[in-house]
Amino acid sequence: MHIAVLKDASGAEARVAATPDTVRGYVSSGHSVSVTKNAGAAADFADAAYVDAGAKIAASNTAAVKTADLVLSVTGGTAKLLASMKKGAGITGLLSPTDNPKYVAAAAKAGVTALALEYIPRISRAQAMDVLSSQSNLAGYRSVVEGAGIYGRAMPMMMTAAGTIAPAKVFIMGVGVAGLQAIATARRLGAVTTATDVRPATKEQVASLGAKFIAVENEEFKAAETAGGYAKQMSPEYQALQAELTASHIAKQDIVITTALIPGRDAPVLVTKAMLDTMRPGSVLVDLAVERGGNVAGAKPGEIVTTKNGVHIVGHLNWPSRMASDASNMFARNLKALLPLLSAEDGSYAPHWDDEVIQGAALTRDGAVVNERLKG
Ligand code: NAI
Repeated sequence: MHIAVLKDASGAEARVAATPDTVRGYVSSGHSVSVTKNAGAAADFADAAYVDAGAKIAASNTAAVKTADLVLSVTGGTAKLLASMKKGAGITGLLSPTDNPKYVAAAAKAGVTALALEYIPRISRAQAMDVLSSQSNLAGYRSVVEGAGIYGRAMPMMMTAAGTIAPAKVFIMGVGVAGLQAIATARRLGAVTTATDVRPATKEQVASLGAKFIAVENEEFKAAETAGGYAKQMSPEYQALQAELTASHIAKQDIVITTALIPGRDAPVLVTKAMLDTMRPGSVLVDLAVERGGNVAGAKPGEIVTTKNGVHIVGHLNWPSRMASDASNMFARNLKALLPLLSAEDGSYAPHWDDEVIQGAALTRDGAVVNERLKG
């Protein structure tokens, strides 16, 4: 098949959906690849490296997609671009389908199959294709490194002739993929690390990383995990108990990383203004949930806010893009793992429509919106 690799046109995205490495793999499997000029530049992959790997460089996204059977992108490109694609061709990316109904409609209108990577079912067979995990892992790492950079003190304990520096206290709220990596990173940097979550399964995971688990462990907690492995929305009573526990703990913390999300809902507010007022000046909160409303009161998307008492709240967006080179490497390998489900034995483009991974990810097919999650 002919594969096109887009350059993100929004200016807010440094990642790219294929690296010279994965392109080399595609070419050696008999596919042809076009990469839009400078597609990988912001992730430190030069056009020359793609050419070395066997790709052709296209002058624009429009030129790249024209003859493509499959288009690889990070965030889907523009809705307008879809009209330039061949009917029946496919496009993959993090398409944010519920936020972008116009994009989905444009894909249907163009007769293009749009595949939303965030809708790939999280079954063990699909782990190698799980972009959410590969990117959250890096976000978790980066949140600690970035928090440590803003924090005006050291992370590890240091005993020197000039005196002893106490280790930083780091608290991770939400122990999914990002939270687990944040714990591991904080521990490696020498911080005294604690963590909380509402899912009981996380207790052991936290302990296995050498951190201390802190949570309201009542009957509701014991039933807080859905069959899909996600958190449930907790009752107001549980939230009040959780807030009490958090309030007493957070006053002693130096860096707090929040990653708590509930699928399909706004992020729960876990750190209130009153709690922020008890923290000492120079403390840092990094809110990875800011795009979904935020876990920290006063967090602003894309900004670092400093409260009156000198506490910094970091609301950066798109953390994986801050580590564009590694994030692209992981993203590109996730797509490479998906490719067999989009090709026939002879290598031609043929989505496996009977496979639950493709059924889960496909938003549109033959001019219609086909995804169950978009059908009300
Ligand atoms: P997520 O990004 O949806 O949420 C992050 C964390 O926030 C979760 O651990 C959740 O329990 C926690 N949370 C929600 N409300 C909270 C509250 N009020 N207080 C404290 N914490 C709260 O989660 P993510 O990273 O997407 O992972 C969710 C689950 O999916 C995990 O169990 C993970 O192990 C599982 N998973 C399974 C995969 C597979 O089998 N292929 C791949 C990736 C993840």
